[in-house]
Amino acid sequence: MLTQPGIHSFDIRDLTPDDKSWVSRVLVQYWGSTVQITRGQRFQADELPGVVAVRDGAEVGLLTYNIDGDACEIITHNSMAGHGGIGSCLLDAVRDKARELGCKRLWLITTNDNTPALRFYQRRGFDMVALHREAVTQARKIKPEIPNVGFDGIPIRHEFELEYML
Ligand SMILES: CC(C)(COP(=O)(O)OP(=O)(O)OC[C@H]1O[C@@H](n2cnc3c(N)ncnc32)[C@H](O)[C@@H]1OP(=O)(O)O)[C@@H](O)C(=O)NCCC(=O)NCCS
Repeated sequence: MLTQPGIHSFDIRDLTPDDKSWVSRVLVQYWGSTVQITRGQRFQADELPGVVAVRDGAEVGLLTYNIDGDACEIITHNSMAGHGGIGSCLLDAVRDKARELGCKRLWLITTNDNTPALRFYQRRGFDMVALHREAVTQARKIKPEIPNVGFDGIPIRHEFELEYML
């Protein structure tokens, strides 16, 4: 799928097994480890399905997800090349994919400090459906790499759950 005509054009494609080594590198770089904990559940994120944005032969965005019943959870979502529409296109791609797979709900958690992400998803139709207090404090016991302090010096403690009904 070709998106965003002009100098910001890039392709969106599915992850393949050949992507695993760079996916692992990206996850370690942006999330401290290939392991992600959401709602207390542990995911080996480099083994999940995903979509990738590619520009000029280089990977510039990555979204991994997990399907459980009729729900699709976004596990990681990163633009590695600024705010050029990559994150929005990856989100559109996973939304289409989840619909094709018969999912009714697309959802994710983000940490309490991540106000840019809370803004991003709410502006794209996601609703805040729960606050899981101290969920990150608990997750840190399993994944000690989770930093104590995040955006704007805010202590990272809680998970916000956001959903988009498909
Ligand atoms: C959340 C995230 C994936 C969004 O990706 P992104 O590529 O920045 O997203 P987009 O570029 O599509 O949109 C971001 C904003 O930049 C704006 N933008 C788009 N193109 C732009 C450009 N060329 N120049 C400047 N801004 C631009 C968009 O309008 C949008 O703003 P809006 O919310 O007011 O509409 C990204 O910010 C990220 O990697 N965050 C860190 C990891 C994270 O927190 N992930 C979410 C939890 S898993």
